[in-house]
Amino acid sequence: MRKYFIIISVWIFTLSSFAQTKTDRMAWWKEAKFGLFIHWGVFSVPAGYLNGKPVHGDICDFSEWIMFNAKIPMAKYQSYAKQFNPVKFDADDWVKIAKEAGMKYIIITAKHHDGFAMFCSKVSKWNICDASSPFGRDPLKDLAVACTKYGMKLGFYYSQAQDWNNGGSVWGSYDGITLKSGSKWDVAQEFSMDNYIDQIAVPQIRELLKNYGDDIPSIIWWDTAFNMNQNRAEKIYKAVQQIKPGIIMNNRLGGDYNGDTETPEGFIPSKGYEGRDWETCMTMNDSWGYRLDDNNWKSTETLIRNLCDIASKGGNYLLNVGPTSEGQIPQPSIDRMAEIGKWLHVNGEAIYGSGPTKFGDEAGNFSSTEKDSKGKPKFIPSWVWRCTTKPGKIYLMIFQWPANHKFELSGLQSKVTKAYLLADGKILEAKQIASGVTITLPEYAPDKYVSIVCLEI
Ligand code: GLC
Repeated sequence: MRKYFIIISVWIFTLSSFAQTKTDRMAWWKEAKFGLFIHWGVFSVPAGYLNGKPVHGDICDFSEWIMFNAKIPMAKYQSYAKQFNPVKFDADDWVKIAKEAGMKYIIITAKHHDGFAMFCSKVSKWNICDASSPFGRDPLKDLAVACTKYGMKLGFYYSQAQDWNNGGSVWGSYDGITLKSGSKWDVAQEFSMDNYIDQIAVPQIRELLKNYGDDIPSIIWWDTAFNMNQNRAEKIYKAVQQIKPGIIMNNRLGGDYNGDTETPEGFIPSKGYEGRDWETCMTMNDSWGYRLDDNNWKSTETLIRNLCDIASKGGNYLLNVGPTSEGQIPQPSIDRMAEIGKWLHVNGEAIYGSGPTKFGDEAGNFSSTEKDSKGKPKFIPSWVWRCTTKPGKIYLMIFQWPANHKFELSGLQSKVTKAYLLADGKILEAKQIASGVTITLPEYAPDKYVSIVCLEI
């Protein structure tokens, strides 16, 4: 009997310490809520244009896909490196812009699908120090130093599967042995995916994990697991675990690795992901990488409301910028980030370290008649208010100020001991009624984007 008791206790202890480890690993990330994505590389040189004409693609118009979309031969594409000279790049500036925006982490493309390493790599000459870029130094080093200085977490995006210059995979159909026609566009592209994994991907990932200090990177962000079978994914996974077992990884490695985080791209899931951490990554305009003709900027209001929506569903917001080849973050992005930062300075308490809503229906509901593209009931979002929580507190994030200045919150069982605005601390009357509570608001919303009422319960 005693023996079984000991075995079971050891087993429970092992399991709980494992669960604890994951909780510990994710703690800062869950607290952070808001991060900066940076898509930067040689693709910022053509910036979506070839021979003076805009390039569009079947899959996407993203500027970082130009080599694929326009089927640019390797030699021609590689000549763009000569023009990649980010003389205006200042890592301190970038990190300060992110910090002032209220962002807590940065993920930068260390290598995108074009295979260009934005770091000094001994593994392939197709990198910022050895290709013909006049810049000739490692911008990730600068960023690592600046992030350490400003207390910003730094993560690396690495395109582990697709690599159009080093013999990795290419988006297209694949029968397990050869890529079907239409995928490959230059005989110089070598498609031994296994050689690429062994000789390029794994060694470069080691470089990235080893060369930037103990705490950098904190995250490794995989992408497009095209042709990543279990064997290939496992090689990468093992290499990472050997060097930085505590690192946070997303769900895009491939094989049967689910990673730590779900990665809804460009959208906010209707109800979040039950039992999973998640992060919506999103562009501020349309393209991830800098694109000359992309002026379709989301408004600051949309971005702030997205952040509220995401936090209310328990997720993180990874908002993207695409710097130019000179190393400048586009001004419209800087302007929006500064505005978000001002808003967070006043209202951040409702975002950082918050838990999801206690209610749920305020985000919208599934239609009983309309269907989405998959034939499932369509989610109809509502943009009136959102809610986040902390122990003893409920934050009501009000998008539409009620005309009668009364905010009716139904379904709240707990007694409200105090209600006030985060904007100015003004105490509000909260009247308990049978169905919940009615809060009397001032005539005008104190914040032009989103005003927040804190309820202490
Ligand atoms: C995609 C694209 C890519 C971008 C990424 C960001 O899958 O291939 O260009 O980096 O999404 O989430």
